[in-house]
Amino acid sequence: MQPTQGNFGRVTVLIHWLVALVTVITVICGLVTVYADGAALTRSSLFFHQTIGFGIFLIMIFRTLWRVTHPAPPLPDETPRHQKIAAAATHILLYVTMFALTITGYTGLAARGRDITIAGLFDLPLIVPLDRELSVTSQALHNYGQYILYALLALHVGAAIYHQFVLKDGLLRRMWFAARA
Ligand code: HEM
Ligand code: HEM
Repeated sequence: MQPTQGNFGRVTVLIHWLVALVTVITVICGLVTVYADGAALTRSSLFFHQTIGFGIFLIMIFRTLWRVTHPAPPLPDETPRHQKIAAAATHILLYVTMFALTITGYTGLAARGRDITIAGLFDLPLIVPLDRELSVTSQALHNYGQYILYALLALHVGAAIYHQFVLKDGLLRRMWFAARA
């Protein structure tokens, strides 16, 4: 396999790894919120979960705008068409899933009229109607959405490992900071 060429820009690379890190942290906080025994632990993990989740929402808005105005470096010509399509589809679905998780997390709480405090500084405005059904549906979507995220990440990280260690085509370098010429 030909080595891949070109790099994602510095901003894309920085955001990619920042979001990867905070996604892992927020998933852990989400799971602790649901499965922890003590009320204090549940409260503080939800506090971190919703604060980081809101941060992810803001970063994802910026990331999407950045990404549509800064196209990805092209994959090598010899990359099979189905692989190009699979990669693009996984990336788009990752964007959609990240947005869906932040929005359903918010509507699950807001439609129950719960205060959503961010970093102890301010409460998010509750812009959805008080509606028990909306809250329950949002929570269910939020819950199932995590499995879609895990499945996409398994494909995504699996593909990165396959390229790095089997094809040895240096794909991972595309998502790292380019050395200065
Ligand atoms: C160990 C974990 C990860 C590795 C090794 C990894 C690796 C990579 C690599 C090598 C690319 C570039 C693909 C290409 O050249 O076309 C990429 C792109 C991408 N990754 Fe990851 N990634 C990881 C975690 C994540 C996570 C947690 C997310 C989302 C929450 C994510 C979302 C994306 C997206 C959306 C792209 C497409 C580029 C863009 O449009 O921003 N990745 N990743
Ligand atoms: C990308 C961002 C997010 C991810 C990956 C995520 C992921 C998760 C996960 C894995 C759980 C555990 C679900 C379970 O096993 O039942 C959870 C629970 C929860 N999340 Fe999120 N979440 C995100 C954003 C948000 C946001 C922004 C909010 C609120 C503003 C939020 C509110 C909640 C609440 C209230 C729970 C507990 C639900 C319950 O009691 O059933 N999440 N989240």
